[in-house]
Amino acid sequence: MSSSPFNEEETKQLLEAQAHIHKHIFYFLNSMALKCALQLKIPDTIHKHGEPMTLSELASSLSIHSSKVPSLYRLIRFLVSSKFLEKKTLTNGEERFSLTLSSKLLLNDHPLTLSPFALTLLDPALVNPAHHLSSWFETEAKSSFHIANHGMSFWEHASLNPEFSDCFNRAMECDSRFVTSLLVTNKEFRGLFDGIETLVDVGGGNGTTAKAISVAFPWLKCSVLDMPHVVAGLQEQENNVMFIVGDMFQAIPSADAILLKWILHDWGDEECIKILQRCKEAIGKKHGGKVIIIDMVMDIQSEDANSNNISSTHILFDMEMMSLNGQGKERTKHEWENLFIQAGFNAYHILPILGSRSVIEVFP
Ligand SMILES: C[S@@+](CC[C@H](N)C(=O)[O-])C[C@H]1O[C@@H](n2cnc3c(N)ncnc32)[C@H](O)[C@@H]1O
Repeated sequence: MSSSPFNEEETKQLLEAQAHIHKHIFYFLNSMALKCALQLKIPDTIHKHGEPMTLSELASSLSIHSSKVPSLYRLIRFLVSSKFLEKKTLTNGEERFSLTLSSKLLLNDHPLTLSPFALTLLDPALVNPAHHLSSWFETEAKSSFHIANHGMSFWEHASLNPEFSDCFNRAMECDSRFVTSLLVTNKEFRGLFDGIETLVDVGGGNGTTAKAISVAFPWLKCSVLDMPHVVAGLQEQENNVMFIVGDMFQAIPSADAILLKWILHDWGDEECIKILQRCKEAIGKKHGGKVIIIDMVMDIQSEDANSNNISSTHILFDMEMMSLNGQGKERTKHEWENLFIQAGFNAYHILPILGSRSVIEVFP
């Protein structure tokens, strides 16, 4: 019998490496199984039941085909292992499943629901571009999204496809509701608005953020600047919010403060500098004028970012920006500072008050 070319330790390491490769090959199923659970309304069903459910109670409450009932426990096992469900075993051996905070945030009727965000970001239109990442690297294509969408950018595609645009705006709306509900009661965030009377939310979508800010700071006059297909039809509404059609690369209306929430990570450095220069012009020489940015400040604590939710979110969002926008990216503190200097700003202050994202105050 020929002996193995590998000793015991080498064999162990090879098998560990193989398991590592397998895990990464199938990582996408984390996303797809979560999507499946949302489409089957598993969190909503458990919530509606009012108490933890057994597998058979779940099977009879969900609209799944009878031939698939025996497979349900495998999806539930995934949800338990990924901490979207919690399993409790009673003294009689019965297993019951309840929601965790993460799955409560995916309930359709939760006031802070993130379900539309999850389902939109997992729609084939946003997932497919990632298949073209290597072609993007090898060609002059502007982004994988361009390759997957006949040479159109994300924003050109949105302007021509009302359904895609509405779906994306609803995803942004639920993120804005989540973020503002945490920010408007935060003392440091509230302090940003001392002495501020006017605010323009640039790329503010359907105005969810601006409306929440105008309710929390009733003296503020808020406007939303966005592309025609986003704000056309949105009239001046309740809560003192005005909608303005415009192009942030051309001109931004004058204001004491300019808000850029989840805007700059969509763009490369050159475009960001242009947007920031337009912001600086909009602030003019106003005393106390500022730009308020809500975006990520990448902080990769260790090479093993997988073990930390915030670091892995930074790395994955950065790949998502690469896939959807090409030059779009998440930035480190140093990269943000370079943008601010090149756009002619003098000072900035980072408030790490929003989990994976920060609020950055930038002063002319
Ligand atoms: C990622 S979304 C963020 C929306 C919103 N700020 C939020 O966080 O919920 C980017 C927004 O920028 C807008 N946008 C893209 N290009 C723009 C341009 N040239 N001028 C104005 N708005 C633009 C999009 O229509 C979209 O609403």
